[in-house]
Amino acid sequence: MDRETKEKKLKEIDEHWIKDCPCVLRETATQAVPGDGNADADIVFIGEAPGRNEDIQGKPFVGAAGKFLAEMLAGIGMERKDVYITNVVKYRPPGNRDPLLDEIRDCQTWLEEQILLIDPKMIILLGRHALEHFFPEEKISRVHGKVLRRSFHELGEKNFYALYHPAAALYNGSMRSVLIEDFKKIPKALMILDETMNETRTNTTVSPDSAQELKETGNHKKRARRAPLF
Ligand code: URA
Repeated sequence: MDRETKEKKLKEIDEHWIKDCPCVLRETATQAVPGDGNADADIVFIGEAPGRNEDIQGKPFVGAAGKFLAEMLAGIGMERKDVYITNVVKYRPPGNRDPLLDEIRDCQTWLEEQILLIDPKMIILLGRHALEHFFPEEKISRVHGKVLRRSFHELGEKNFYALYHPAAALYNGSMRSVLIEDFKKIPKALMILDETMNETRTNTTVSPDSAQELKETGNHKKRARRAPLF
């Protein structure tokens, strides 16, 4: 599918869900924040939920965390328009509280349709809420800076890269340095994926520091517990 067709279809998906999303947060939010960027991107970033600025502007990551994200993108020679950016929840939770499981589930099909359409090479999970949505058994402190691969009923096999959330890292010196270092490894992680895509068909973690290291994460048991849609 060419980029123009993807853009058109992505707009249709968002228009559909803006009308029909069952998430209760729509009652308190100013507007939906579906996502922003290139509908034909190699990389999709998934954060947690819109904050105050995002709620006002209708675009994800436009506040301080967004500025930091844009700086890190520039560091690897990319701009916002090269990637697609969205969140697990499409409406701002009141007072910027953490999104609840029900709210994440209510926005889940919307997110899945976006991912299926864009079909990126890699999904970058920003912070623990995005990570736990796809890997409920994992901890961000354990898998940040690693490529994760998993098959989902609705999505098929997908590649992920986990990062600390820019908002959490912004004012935490050591987390900030780790995030910046992990971010710099994104181009290498993409390259490794291209190389290993056809070689492995199991759940694995791959560190961009050692392309040869493929570790089973033992996710099968955990995945069986993941009831709802995945
Ligand atoms: N934090 C997020 O997780 N998403 C946004 O869109 C903004 C800040």
